[in-house]
Amino acid sequence: MNSPPRIDRKVRIGVVGMGVGAAEILPAMAASDKVELVAVADTNPRVLEVFRQRYGGRTYNDIESLCADPLVEAVWIATPNRFHAAHTVIAARHGKHVVVEKPMAITMQEAEQMIEASIRHGIKLVCGHTQSFLPHVQAMRRIIRSGEVGRLCAMHVWAYTDWLMRPRSADELDIEQGGGVPYRQAPHQVDTLRLLGGGLVRSVRASVGQWFKGRPIPGYYSAFMEFEDGTPATLMHNGHGYFIGAELVPWGHQNHHYTPEQRIAVRRDLLAGTSDQDRAKDDLRIGGSAERGNITTKSKPKPWVPNDLGMLIVSCEKGDLRQSQYGIFVHDDTGTRDVPIEGNANTITGRSAELDELWRAVVLDQPVRHSGPWGMATLEVCLAIMQSARERREIRLSHQVVAPE
Ligand SMILES: NC(=O)c1ccc[n+]([C@@H]2O[C@H](COP(=O)([O-])OP(=O)(O)OC[C@H]3O[C@@H](n4cnc5c(N)ncnc54)[C@H](O)[C@@H]3O)[C@@H](O)[C@H]2O)c1
Repeated sequence: MNSPPRIDRKVRIGVVGMGVGAAEILPAMAASDKVELVAVADTNPRVLEVFRQRYGGRTYNDIESLCADPLVEAVWIATPNRFHAAHTVIAARHGKHVVVEKPMAITMQEAEQMIEASIRHGIKLVCGHTQSFLPHVQAMRRIIRSGEVGRLCAMHVWAYTDWLMRPRSADELDIEQGGGVPYRQAPHQVDTLRLLGGGLVRSVRASVGQWFKGRPIPGYYSAFMEFEDGTPATLMHNGHGYFIGAELVPWGHQNHHYTPEQRIAVRRDLLAGTSDQDRAKDDLRIGGSAERGNITTKSKPKPWVPNDLGMLIVSCEKGDLRQSQYGIFVHDDTGTRDVPIEGNANTITGRSAELDELWRAVVLDQPVRHSGPWGMATLEVCLAIMQSARERREIRLSHQVVAPE
């Protein structure tokens, strides 16, 4: 007879690609009683050295060696987008569970290969991290599904950020390698809208913009999506950094990457071609001179600001929902109330939700919510945004899946 699963145990994780994105998950991992970070693989020797000093974990130069380590149960793939599919397949072949950063892959064929590998080798595949994991989004979903403000009627999400101003490596400036705002930022908005709208997008009509001469990559998109049940949604991301959505709220300055003066200087340097982008990006990674203060564990929640997801407004038959500083504003026939969200800094960023999802799948054998087919359906919408812009027509979708319970 099989013994029951031990539910007091941690899942042992190895991260592949300890770059700027992966560092964002470190505080949640450090605070978690569900996972333990035991190893890292990266091609950057300084990153490995700093990781060894700070965390004392095992380090490897490549994914194959990390996956050969029997201590590692799950692999967190945060390498550049062009490696997501190949690295997932390698991890699956070694029998390791996988969390893969957004976008899941660059093409639908790659996404299919990843799902197929996860099934063939019997591993859990989680398509992380999009801002649909945020407690704000989860709270909105609960309110919509409770029916207290009636049927979902329309959704709008708009983000104004400085994505194009931040240091970018060559792969992030190459659309063939999954660079630019439609690949890198649309997954946050698409995943969120699909989760709130039930998952099944019928069609997309979109425009993509590339107008800043200092960056050879699209920094803008706007799209209209229609769900199978007729619900409309608009989504827009403008990463040019002239106006920042965070400025819409009085406490927004806490979340700026740059001051307005710094953005002017960065834009000037990009136009003049005088900045060393590889170096500036490397400075942001762990042990670099401009490393962000995100590797310590913070317990105080940060207030919401309209950052990479943007300002999300959901209209239902009997009211509107939108993010508040620490919760959700519900505007309905009784007036406006602010429904708070409980939690610490890691729950508010959504990163502990992602760790919980992996843990529940691996330890309790529960279904993955952000599964391979779910991630592939989000990728399909992101690709449709780019196709619609190229061909100037509405794109019908065919790989959509229903939002999980
Ligand atoms: N979910 C989020 O909010 C979020 C935020 C930032 C980045 N990301 C995602 O993280 C991924 C990486 O982006 P980033 O900004 O951290 O870039 P990055 O360049 O800082 O990080 C990539 C890391 O992978 C390493 N690497 C490159 N090739 C490798 C290989 N073959 N094997 C092992 N390591 C290798 C690099 O040395 C680097 O440390 C992207 O998919 C991006 O979309 C997600």
